[in-house]
This record gives sequence, structure tokens and C-alpha cells, in this order.
Amino acid sequence: MSKKIVTLLLSAFIMGSLFWSCTQPKNNQQKAADKGSVSFLELAQTRYTTKVYDATKKLSEDQINELAEILRLAPSSINSQPWQFVIIADQNLKSSLAEVSLGNASKVKGASHLVVFRGAKNLEKLEAQMKEYLSEGSLAFYTGRVKNDEEGVRQWIGRQVYISLGFFLAACADMGIDSTPMEGIDTAGYDKILNLGDDYQTLCVVAIGYRSPEDSNQPSITPKKRLSKEQVIKMM
Ligand SMILES: Cc1cc2nc3c(=O)[nH]c(=O)nc-3n(C[C@H](O)[C@H](O)[C@H](O)COP(=O)(O)O)c2cc1C
Repeated sequence: MSKKIVTLLLSAFIMGSLFWSCTQPKNNQQKAADKGSVSFLELAQTRYTTKVYDATKKLSEDQINELAEILRLAPSSINSQPWQFVIIADQNLKSSLAEVSLGNASKVKGASHLVVFRGAKNLEKLEAQMKEYLSEGSLAFYTGRVKNDEEGVRQWIGRQVYISLGFFLAACADMGIDSTPMEGIDTAGYDKILNLGDDYQTLCVVAIGYRSPEDSNQPSITPKKRLSKEQVIKMM
């Protein structure tokens, strides 16, 4: 075989392999490596509760749609999904909600969007909804382990909603979006203003957007305060 043919065959093989590897589905680690993305630890070190927003910077519709889908995919016990998420861009509505946001008013007004995390309040409706798609085993878990008393069910619902809150905060960090989780609000006031009926009730809110460069709470200005590893982690 001439040198020319060998070279041609070799080039075809290399091109073919390259094409094959490019068309193979990638796992998350490969995708992260391609993106040159930061590790989850680095996100945990750099994300923070934003206290001052740059009100001129808005999130795009694509970003909001992505966050909405992430919320929809949040995990919950027995896949109960006892929640409703209200995403607010409207400035007038944000101003009204700021009035019942106590010490958080300026964040509510300055952020690009607000996400209101609501937990199921109408237990009959929640149970009917769960019956539509949950397995007998999951429903038996709910009846036997959760539904012992109404207060217990409400607390269980709250725990599920707060899992979605943690999931959401991590997603924001991953997407380079600043956020402020807020419990310091008048939740009944939120429900009154939102006027979405009684099936769900507001538990907490997250403001999202982009920080003001002057926000002194950012870790580069105010380092994070946490308990030591020895205090909170036990290895056995
Ligand atoms: C459930 C929850 C409620 C919070 N409520 C408020 C709030 O009302 N206002 C506020 O400025 N920060 C609030 N925070 C932020 C915490 O104070 C903050 O997460 C904590 O001090 C750690 O700081 P870092 O998030 O900057 O790391 C809340 C956080 C969580 C998780």
C-alpha cells in the first residue's frame, strides 16, 4: 500500500472516531468539564444571600423558563409535590408585595423576579391529586405514616416545600443568578395580595436577579460565617 493511501485511511479513521465521539450522549461530568463549570463546592463557597440588587438588570425569559422547569422537577417525599410556585416579574405587583415584606421590602422591589413558594392548604384536594398518579404503596405510606394528625401533615408539606427551596437556591447559584431566600415576610399578606384562592398558602419567598456591586454582604466583602466542621459533622 502506498504511503498516500495509508495516510488517507488514517485520516478517515481519525475523522470518523472524532465524529462518533461528538455524537455520543455525554454524562453530567463530561458536560461540566466542557462548560469549564465550577464545582458544587465552589458554588457553595461563592453563593450568598443578596441584600442589594441592581434593579436595572433583569433575568431573561429563557432563564425564568429554565428555573420554572427546575422547580417542577424538584424532589419530594413519595413524589407528593404538595406545592405551587408563583413567579412574579410585574413591578406593580412587586411594589404591593414589598409593603408586606417587612425588613425585606427593598430586596423585593429591587430584584428582577420574585418566586413565592406555597404549600398545599386544602388537604382534600391534595389527596385527590395524589390519588391520580401515586402508587398504592406511596398512598399507603401517606395514610399510615404521614396522615396521623392534621398538624403533622402540614409540617410534612412544609418540609417538602423547603426541599424545593434548597433545590432552587442551588440551581440559581449554578446559573449565576443571585438570590435571597426570605421567611421574614407577612405570608398572610402575600396570600391576600396574590388572590389565588385558598388551596395553597405562602410559606416563603425568594428574590432573584443580579447583585449591586455595592452589596456589602457578598463574600468578597463579608466572608461567610459558618460553624466549624467539628461542630456540625460527625464521621463514624
Ligand atoms: C428559610 C430561610 C429564610 C431566610 N429568611 C431571610 C430573610 O427574611 N431575609 C434575609 O435577608 N435573609 C434571609 N435568609 C438568609 C439567611 O440569613 C442566610 O442564608 C444565612 O445568614 C447564611 O448566609 P448566606 O446565605 O449568605 O451564606 C433566609 C434563609 C433561609 C434558608
